Amino acid sequence: MKITVVGAGAVGATCADNIARKELAEELVLLDIKEGFAEGKAIDMMQTATLLGFDTKITGVTNDYSKTAGSAVAVITSGLPRKPGMTREELIGINAGIVKGVAENILKYSPDAIIIVISNPMDTMTYLALKSLGLPKNRIIGMGGTLDSARFKYYLSVALNCNSNDLQGFVIGGHGDTTMIPLTRYATYQSLPVTELLDKATLAKVAADTMVGGATLTGLLGTSAWYAPGAAGAALVESIVRDEKKLFTCCVALDGEYGQKDICLGVPVIVGRNGWEKVIDYKLNEEEQASFNKSADAVRAMNSVLHD
Ligand code: NAI
Repeated sequence: MKITVVGAGAVGATCADNIARKELAEELVLLDIKEGFAEGKAIDMMQTATLLGFDTKITGVTNDYSKTAGSAVAVITSGLPRKPGMTREELIGINAGIVKGVAENILKYSPDAIIIVISNPMDTMTYLALKSLGLPKNRIIGMGGTLDSARFKYYLSVALNCNSNDLQGFVIGGHGDTTMIPLTRYATYQSLPVTELLDKATLAKVAADTMVGGATLTGLLGTSAWYAPGAAGAALVESIVRDEKKLFTCCVALDGEYGQKDICLGVPVIVGRNGWEKVIDYKLNEEEQASFNKSADAVRAMNSVLHD
């Protein structure tokens, strides 16, 4: 099995590193437009193989898509990241051109690949991929809610002073500071609803911290985060290549699910060998559905920039 990661920057390299450590592929191609950059990252990672004990061959290439031929999964991380004070939406113009070109090149050599879009603004980039590539919708997956849900569980674990692996929780909607919706009502700790364990003010703070989780890190780091985004991308790759059928929030094409159509938005889906395989319908109450609709409106407004 071969996997390609496009963009050897912070997120792409971290994603590739996780894929290699987990031995999700025999061959991993890391591609970047910057001369020699992916080659350098690939060699550096390969020099960890004997230290970490993995057996994945990582090849770095500068923009040569023929080397990606026959990939089962391609993860797209190429594009500009946020700087402090920037929103993900401000990246739209530049990243749209990059993501479209990259995806077309990938499919030229790997017509059966499942595409995972990470570049921001991710909801719009996923929609762009859906509309421009003509692939079956289950083969296009946007990664955002997987990361936001991991951040939600992190903040819940801090509030509960517990191991975050004992938590379940999903963030749905758009992957934006104001468009994501932490589904607090459905979050659990060891099967107990967190609404019974934490007071309203604490839960509201957890949700608020989650929503600005990315911006908080951008402020601290001077650029956007990479460990959790890279790990989230690799977790989706793992569920696909091992056909784990795990439940993740992913940005997928909706056709009436959660009351929305002609949009890509974050909802809980089963991820397996065929890409995203099924939307799971968490019954939203009136307030949650209103937030979801508002999130859809905001993402639709961003998507409309693509047609201008
Ligand atoms: P980075 O700047 O470290 O890496 C981006 C890489 O893409 C660079 O090495 C650059 O040379 C490469 N690149 C640019 N144009 C290219 C092209 N046409 N073909 C191939 N490679 C190209 O940025 P970082 O931090 O890795 O972030 C990457 C993207 O992921 C950004 O758009 C960022 O906003 C997004 N992101 C998304 C997250 C999500 O949850 N969806 C989370 C974190 C970041």
